[in-house]
Amino acid sequence: MSERPHILVASPTFPEVLDKLRQHFDVEPNLSDDAWTGEAFTSRLPGKVGAFLTGAQTVNAEVLAHAPDLKMVANMAVGYNNLEIPALEQAGVVASNTPDVLTETTADFGFALLMATARRVTEAEHYLRAGHWGKWSYDLLLGSEVHGSTLGIIGMGRIGQGIARRGVHGFGMSLIYHNRSQLDAATESELKAHYAPTKEEVLRQADHVVLVLPYTPAAYHLIGAAEIALMKPTATLINIARGGIVDDKALAQALQAGTIAAAGLDVFEGEPAFAKELLECNNVVLTPHIASATRTTRLKMAHLAADNLIAFFTTGQALTPVTT
Ligand code: DGY
Repeated sequence: MSERPHILVASPTFPEVLDKLRQHFDVEPNLSDDAWTGEAFTSRLPGKVGAFLTGAQTVNAEVLAHAPDLKMVANMAVGYNNLEIPALEQAGVVASNTPDVLTETTADFGFALLMATARRVTEAEHYLRAGHWGKWSYDLLLGSEVHGSTLGIIGMGRIGQGIARRGVHGFGMSLIYHNRSQLDAATESELKAHYAPTKEEVLRQADHVVLVLPYTPAAYHLIGAAEIALMKPTATLINIARGGIVDDKALAQALQAGTIAAAGLDVFEGEPAFAKELLECNNVVLTPHIASATRTTRLKMAHLAADNLIAFFTTGQALTPVTT
């Protein structure tokens, strides 16, 4: 029988990352196409000291009751709202996430969604593919300006700052942001950033609002009908943070009523399910949680999750532990 620590890889991952893990661990890999969740996940936890996870697996007190041997979970994501950190702490289980390696790629995508939304790119493509393009017209698919407009960011961590740099330095945008804490003076000056003490101020002033804050229960439906009503009728709203932060049904109503011009969503409450009302709106760009999805970045994320497991079981310290 193997003496090596026994770990679970609960979601499918890159073969080279599995090979790396196999050099250090006795691995139960998920070689199917689907993440193990629910019973398929918990039934495999007994006997495992470590687990390689993605956002698909929830780890809470109930799940931990099935995992008496678990010492560490490595989440292949920067967000870790799928992990109930107090329950993990109470059970003495260390958690790690994958910060930094996805910052720029995710900021690229946030900006891509902003551009596609403001300039109606997917709507225009559908229009063309559907055979509606009969003539050039001065008012065909008019969008809103990106360059020189006001960018609003709610949640100014690493990814928020990446989007801010793109907007301010690349597109000459003015920046207003709201965050738990104000940026230091040097960063504010580099980004020519105006700090808003409330999210409402950002919503009122910005032409394009990007949500990049971490999910906590307090962030549930942070942006609902009342908040959307504060925005300019020409404004766009982008969510690359987490589903549940926006009340998507209220957003769909606002998009249909013209309360705001358009929205871009990469994340959804209850994903992969989502509010079907959104499908009725032409003025929303919908993508399936792919902000970090380049091969290079996803590979870096998977390696970092694996390296966290290896570091923890060889030195006792994870490389990028979740700290609260
Ligand atoms: C993250 O890293 O948190 C991304 O949303 C992928 O889940």
